[in-house]
Amino acid sequence: MKEKLQEMRQEVLKKLQEVKNVEAIKEIELKYFSRKGELSTFLRGLKDLSLDLKKEVGGLANQVKKELEDKLLEIKTEFLHKEGQANIPDDLTLPGKILTRGGLHPITIIQQEIEDLFISLGFMVLDGPELESDYFNFTALNIPPLHPARDMQDTFYVFNPQKKIQDLDLVMRTHTSPAQIRAMKKYGAPLKAIIPGRCFRNEATDARHEHTFYQFEGLMIGNNINFSNLKSILELVGKKLFGENTNLRMRPKFYPFVEPGNNGEYTCFLCSGKGCRVCKQSGWLEIVGAGLIHPSVLLAGGLDPSKYSGLAFGFGLTRLAMLKYGINDVRFFNSGDLKFLEQF
Ligand code: PHE
Repeated sequence: MKEKLQEMRQEVLKKLQEVKNVEAIKEIELKYFSRKGELSTFLRGLKDLSLDLKKEVGGLANQVKKELEDKLLEIKTEFLHKEGQANIPDDLTLPGKILTRGGLHPITIIQQEIEDLFISLGFMVLDGPELESDYFNFTALNIPPLHPARDMQDTFYVFNPQKKIQDLDLVMRTHTSPAQIRAMKKYGAPLKAIIPGRCFRNEATDARHEHTFYQFEGLMIGNNINFSNLKSILELVGKKLFGENTNLRMRPKFYPFVEPGNNGEYTCFLCSGKGCRVCKQSGWLEIVGAGLIHPSVLLAGGLDPSKYSGLAFGFGLTRLAMLKYGINDVRFFNSGDLKFLEQF
């Protein structure tokens, strides 16, 4: 037994002396020291010996085991150190590894820019639910059930098991305007707020239409809010987004929740108003729906229309991002395509 042990000791020491890399050390570790390795098996075999023999060989065996383990660790550490050093490039001026970083979505970038502008004007930035009640999305905004204006904003209707009257039906909100009512109810007047968010409509999807898109709503309510306030705010937004030379033109348009209602159009920033493909040769870009808040809507928000007046506007945030970055297909935004997203 003792000879066998001495033999194994010599063998391992010799091998350890000859190793040239960590890989070789690991092989030795496996061959002798692993659970089924030769040394471990030998030591396990000691328990079957007679008591005398066990005493005699056991002590020596543990001594040898310790000696070999120490030696192995020493050599292993030495080689790990050496090989670690070998990984350091000779030329320390070589560029380092580039860590890939995530970035903001183009819509988020524009949204933050707009939030900053309105915060500087003293507006609150609010939020509203994407799954809305039929009441907030339509009825409270002066679009009663069966009103034809509902047809223009068909959406995804969601079954509400608790409903007792139609107003409690749930819809994926078709615009951010329902948040107007929520804001009025919660904060009363005077009130200045914008509400950015995701909206949904039943669309046959193509390069200009998407079932999921972003808007941001704005409203300002007080004692004497009038059309000139609206015009100046919309002008400011246009200049901020598209530059100082941007003009605004407002044309009448019907929205049930504003009176008078209008469409805000800005000088096409691409052709400076001369007419091009983007503005369909008109020189103007239609970007915002706006108007003075209809008295019925103020009432629905719990405000007295004889005391307060207000303005409201709704920008297509997705549309703004498309214009700002020259994106010609709205479907890119929700595609999750990294080739698209990494450009911002
Ligand atoms: N909610 C309207 C839309 O989605 C936009 C709008 C908002 C118009 C506020 C007037 C006032 O088309």
